[in-house]
Amino acid sequence: MKLKIEEVRKEFPSLKNEWVLMDNAGGSQILQKVINRMNDYLLNSNVQLGASYKVSELAGKNIDEANRVMGEFINARSKSEIIMGGSTTMLLNQLAASFGKVLKPGDEIVVTDCDHEANIGAWRKLERFGIVIREWQINLDDFRLHLDDLGKIMNDKTKLVAVTNSSNIIGTTIDVKEITGYVHKRGALICVDGVAYVPHRAVDVQKMDIDFYVFSFYKLYGTHSALLYGKQELLEKLPGINHYFIDEEEVPYKFQPGNQNYELSYGALGITDYISEMASLHGISSNLSLNNKSKEFFNLIKVHEEELMNPIMDLLNSKSNIKIIGEDSYSGDVRVPTISFIVDGVMSNEIVEQVDKHKIGIRYGHFYAKRLIDNLGLEKQNGVVRISLVHYNTLDEVNKLVTALDEILN
Ligand SMILES: Cc1ncc(COP(=O)(O)O)c(C=O)c1O
Repeated sequence: MKLKIEEVRKEFPSLKNEWVLMDNAGGSQILQKVINRMNDYLLNSNVQLGASYKVSELAGKNIDEANRVMGEFINARSKSEIIMGGSTTMLLNQLAASFGKVLKPGDEIVVTDCDHEANIGAWRKLERFGIVIREWQINLDDFRLHLDDLGKIMNDKTKLVAVTNSSNIIGTTIDVKEITGYVHKRGALICVDGVAYVPHRAVDVQKMDIDFYVFSFYKLYGTHSALLYGKQELLEKLPGINHYFIDEEEVPYKFQPGNQNYELSYGALGITDYISEMASLHGISSNLSLNNKSKEFFNLIKVHEEELMNPIMDLLNSKSNIKIIGEDSYSGDVRVPTISFIVDGVMSNEIVEQVDKHKIGIRYGHFYAKRLIDNLGLEKQNGVVRISLVHYNTLDEVNKLVTALDEILN
């Protein structure tokens, strides 16, 4: 079964645009179903939660449903493991602030040099409390994180390892389950940034045995808000960051200071509405759990993405003056379609500005993974050129890009 691309595209009204949008790792287009859910919330239940009158009860039920269904989507054990928030950056800062209350001077945290700064800076801020930060550096030959390098910097003081599921520049998928096992064996916890991964692959937090997992809905066909998953027993033990009178037993409320963006949280249900509808359209059994339906649907996405990546990789690999920053394969087993490259002796902005003229939106820069770009010595070249596709992109669009790039790169 192939992905029914015409049906997929009908779900994204903003794709009726003369521009080809290939900056999706920056932010994807929104599903009509998300807009519908938001409208529904705002028009029918936009009152303060927690009161005894019926409309307030409905608002509470709606938000509860959002947490429950999002929990099912990533296979959390319960809805109280789901914390909604403004952005991934904010949620990671909130989580780090909570850790800051319990860690002791001399405790250690490992961050990478290839994550988006969101999952580095939040943890590095704890240095001022005497927490030691160690850096797990990417291997610059194969652009991969190696476990033996992690082994060299972990010790009995290591409390947490913060790592990405897929870099928003390199695009290589990271075997989080393997890292989690390694980290847990050494007595530490793991916090995974899934922002660049979730638009492409299904996530199963239980299977990966992850402690904390975070992603933003605006990269996953939704709105500008985000979700942090935390294992129940850890959320119960960690100190909250809410007001002093909010009970420490109240998970996840003790991690959600202020009113969250209720309509955006409820809007996220449009993403799972879409997945369920697409699953049924593609003959995936309706008896499966939402997480299993997602796995099947995202498998179709993976195959489609491989088809899209193939001509781009062929072009980039055929040019001797181009270096791909990441895997040079189009296999969905090793990468997602976030493809970055540099051209020998050419500023990255110059390439992108040429592509702009073809009404194709790609992008250059460091994409807030600044440490990676600095370590690669690419700041002076204005970072990398990044093409980032998602499943609503078509082969026709890719062919248009390849023709344009071929001309520009000659
Ligand atoms: C991999 C990755 N992590 C984190 C973020 C930050 O997300 P937010 O804007 O929700 O803070 C981004 C945004 O580009 C990202 O690509």
